[in-house]
Amino acid sequence: MRNLENIKGSRVYGRRQGPALSAARQGRLDKWLPEIEIILPEQKSATAPQCYFNMARKDFWFEIGFGKGEHLAAQAQSHPDIGMIGCEPFLNGVSGLVDLVDQSNLANVRIFTDDARLLMDSLPDSSIGRAFILFPDPWPKSRHHKRRIVGPGNIVVLARILKDGAELRIGTDHMEYCRWIMAHMMDNPDFIWASDSPEDWRSRPDDWPASRYEIKSMEQGRKSSYLRFIRRPRHP
Ligand SMILES: C[S@@+](CC[C@H](N)C(=O)[O-])C[C@H]1O[C@@H](n2cnc3c(N)ncnc32)[C@H](O)[C@@H]1O
Repeated sequence: MRNLENIKGSRVYGRRQGPALSAARQGRLDKWLPEIEIILPEQKSATAPQCYFNMARKDFWFEIGFGKGEHLAAQAQSHPDIGMIGCEPFLNGVSGLVDLVDQSNLANVRIFTDDARLLMDSLPDSSIGRAFILFPDPWPKSRHHKRRIVGPGNIVVLARILKDGAELRIGTDHMEYCRWIMAHMMDNPDFIWASDSPEDWRSRPDDWPASRYEIKSMEQGRKSSYLRFIRRPRHP
């Protein structure tokens, strides 16, 4: 039985557990997690993403805060040769992705059930081919801005783990957070904003499946921004 006590970590600000899982969902969690959960090695040494997969993968994509996993599962299904790594500390969200893995028998998904930053810190330089941060919590109060997952410190870590030319996708429906993200991303010399016209960020690209949060936001009449950044080559 997996419950809150199993989940350690100290830097997550949101909820870790919601309503109790049904016996069926708990059963799927118990069946799948031993197979697909990422456990960090005891010794703090860089661990290549390939080590978490039992088959060679063409590349590794990384999603921070996958919620209930709809986007990650859709990407995994469209790209079976890619190893998809998702981080989500909210147990009911983890259970959502496990259900999708179970339904579609996705062999290329691995889940880290804790703060994404712990896993990011353990990844080697230039090891990730694409990263997604979709509708991160905006923490609107100024005194909470330091909790935002997209901020100067984490942008530096993302620049370290992303390969040259890798894409970082960030979606948000929060205007002030969007301006914050743009300001901090443009401040970092390692990223280039991939946009030629407003159309590039006002509409979701075809190969960017909708996430649950985005659909809810759309239903409530809010507009979202779809920001894409390219990791600048280290040695052009
Ligand atoms: C607003 S929800 C968006 C969920 C999903 N990406 C979507 O678009 O439907 C933000 C998610 O980020 C997760 N999160 C917050 N801090 C995190 C962290 N440090 N590492 C990984 N996930 C985190 C939360 O648990 C929550 O599920």
